[in-house]
Amino acid sequence: MPAVPPIAAERLPELLRRMPKAELHIHIEGSLEPELIFEMSRRNGIAIPYAGVEELRRAYAFTNLQSFLDIYYAGASVLINERDFHDMAWAYLLKAKAENVVRAELFFDPQTHTARGVAMETVINGLHSACTRAGAELGVSASLILCFLRHLSEGEAFETLEQALPFQDKFIGVGLDSSEVGHPPEKFAKVFARCRELGLHLVAHAGEEGPPSYVWTALDLLKVERIDHGVQSSKDPQLMRRLAQDRIPLTVCPLSNLKLCVFPALEQHNLRELLDAGLVATVNSDDPAYFGGYLNENFTRTFAATGLSAQHAWQLAANSFEASFAEPEQKRRWRDQLDAAFAQFA
Ligand code: ADE
Ligand code: ZN
Repeated sequence: MPAVPPIAAERLPELLRRMPKAELHIHIEGSLEPELIFEMSRRNGIAIPYAGVEELRRAYAFTNLQSFLDIYYAGASVLINERDFHDMAWAYLLKAKAENVVRAELFFDPQTHTARGVAMETVINGLHSACTRAGAELGVSASLILCFLRHLSEGEAFETLEQALPFQDKFIGVGLDSSEVGHPPEKFAKVFARCRELGLHLVAHAGEEGPPSYVWTALDLLKVERIDHGVQSSKDPQLMRRLAQDRIPLTVCPLSNLKLCVFPALEQHNLRELLDAGLVATVNSDDPAYFGGYLNENFTRTFAATGLSAQHAWQLAANSFEASFAEPEQKRRWRDQLDAAFAQFA
């Protein structure tokens, strides 16, 4: 790890905003801002049980993961046409560009849409065209990861995979999200084994609210390459050693953890503990339209609350490139850009 030159504390927020970085844990449906929800509600004739943008925002007072998911799935109900999926992803990618995100790996939840009669093709083509456009027009590299909803059955996950396979060239991997407690990773062992045979990348949410044992089974039974969240791992020293030794990245989402009451205050977040233990931790926004901030807000607020340093900033950005599913040569170029950004700041 290169020694990062001393940088005055008051310049840290600017450095955090300016440094190139990858975002690896963003549910694209969680980037749908209330303004866009109401615009799509109007243009698609889908009623929303809130009088307006302010009233909807006021409802974003969550007590746990499930209280958020109920509103999140309701918000996604306005997405009907290919253009809606494109517009949602494009709005996020414009923000990503403005925040110096050079690589974004976007989760999407097809079952939320196919259950309402929206075709898989509509979902994937709309999102994928926004990703292609981001590469061409913004210089932002973007790829899709299809998530299975863990509150549904493994049989339904298999059906979803079947529907998605004609478009396999348009997504790079699969993940597992939605209600965690009571739906352990092992419920999806067979469908993940099939995805592995198909050459897809594998990730899973584990240890967000659920116990460290879910992180173990995600690793050992699902054979995932990254753990999404994983913050509960710090309760299990043996698991911490495993994650560090195998360089299994954790895609940590501090403002999400705050909004969903995983930690009572940002000051008590365990990101520093994860980094100090040598884990490949990264910072991400999860569902930025619902949790009060995009990626740079996650960085600046977490650094302010926990007193992390410029060295930690460099490490987190470097980790985000290491943990990404981009090509090794591309990752090396981003690492060089990261070092150049830090050198400029010295
Ligand atoms: N879907 C969207 N955001 C999620 C989260 N934080 N955990 C599980 N499923 C999700
Ligand atoms: Zn998530």
